[in-house]
Amino acid sequence: MPDAIPADAVSLADYERLASKRLIAKNLAYLNGGAADMRTLTANTESWNKQSLWPRVLRDFEKANTQTTLLGRKLNSPVLIAPTAYHKLFHPEGELATATAASALRVPYIVSTQASVKLEDIAEKAGGMPLWFQLYIQHDKDFTKNLVRRAEKAGYEAIVLTVDAPVHGIRNDEQRSGFSLPANVEPVNLRGLTPLPKTQSAFDSTLLASLPTWKDVEWLKSITSLPVLIKGILHPADATMAIEYGADGIMVSNHGGRTLDQLPSTRETLPHIVKAVAGKVPVLVDGGIRRGTDVLQAIALGADAVLLGRPVIHGLTTAGAAGVAHVLKLVQHELEVAMLLTGCRNLSEASSTLTI
Ligand code: FNR
Ligand code: LAC
Repeated sequence: MPDAIPADAVSLADYERLASKRLIAKNLAYLNGGAADMRTLTANTESWNKQSLWPRVLRDFEKANTQTTLLGRKLNSPVLIAPTAYHKLFHPEGELATATAASALRVPYIVSTQASVKLEDIAEKAGGMPLWFQLYIQHDKDFTKNLVRRAEKAGYEAIVLTVDAPVHGIRNDEQRSGFSLPANVEPVNLRGLTPLPKTQSAFDSTLLASLPTWKDVEWLKSITSLPVLIKGILHPADATMAIEYGADGIMVSNHGGRTLDQLPSTRETLPHIVKAVAGKVPVLVDGGIRRGTDVLQAIALGADAVLLGRPVIHGLTTAGAAGVAHVLKLVQHELEVAMLLTGCRNLSEASSTLTI
């Protein structure tokens, strides 16, 4: 039974272990790997471990909930699915399985520009749950505009503009493994885009001229009426600029430690961004979030919501849609238990866990 949930899958770490056993080495290197020596990747997970959560007891929990509102949508939980590429590398149904799970658990799913299934087909599986579309601005502006139009037409509710990966990071693990896409997996939503000529240098002049800038944020805002969130902000000054350029939300992310090594962990960054944003727009965070207590900590530090990247793919690899749904369910259950055991009746009480 390929898609059965294994009896010993009781935490996200279990799903990582189980997925690692199933994947061929190069796909595993692509999935779990990070940039260079993986210091940022390691820092992401480790940094959530350092904070103690101070509990309160014997509170009345009658009306307790994990609800939040994001971009005008009421959600039962502050946990979303991060955009990740090429789900068909991990399960034959690819993004369709992920969307099925998102719909069943009523969790918003951010679909990657580099999805391996057509964005319209994914939308059909979403069952009324919000889908957001993650955009990489392409060198061909008309192509990019058409991609945004397609997402709008298919009912996507927001654009998530990823700005932290204009070039591929130095991913040595991926290189050592000889990773490349197999013939049956491709970024189908980019079909028809003429690729830029391959270059040896990151500072190739054609490449440099094609890189997105703040002007493109202005352009994107001018061509769509959907909310635009900017993903990959680490410096508070950039958070301020993003708001000046009309961002409707900020995602604190270092791309799961996959771009530049030696970046700050997102746990370290989050309070600085929350301060700079000062409540003007929602702040979301991802990177190394593996437990309900990590979610609670992120909310306590001022995040409005969190994203899960690799754990969703570990679930997908292990048991398809059922595995993704189980991963989401485990985190939600852990969050509820963490709230009960710290005395937080709703997310706005989370900050009380940080200090005495
Ligand atoms: C990613 N990420 C990513 N981000 C994005 O904006 N567009 C993308 O296509 C991808 N693709 C992608 C593929 C894979 C295999 C991974 C692991 C990650 C980054 C992702 O959205 C998110 O920022 C991190 O994965 C969050 O960290 P964790 O939860 O994986 O630790
Ligand atoms: C990655 C790209 C697809 O992280 O964003 O692999």
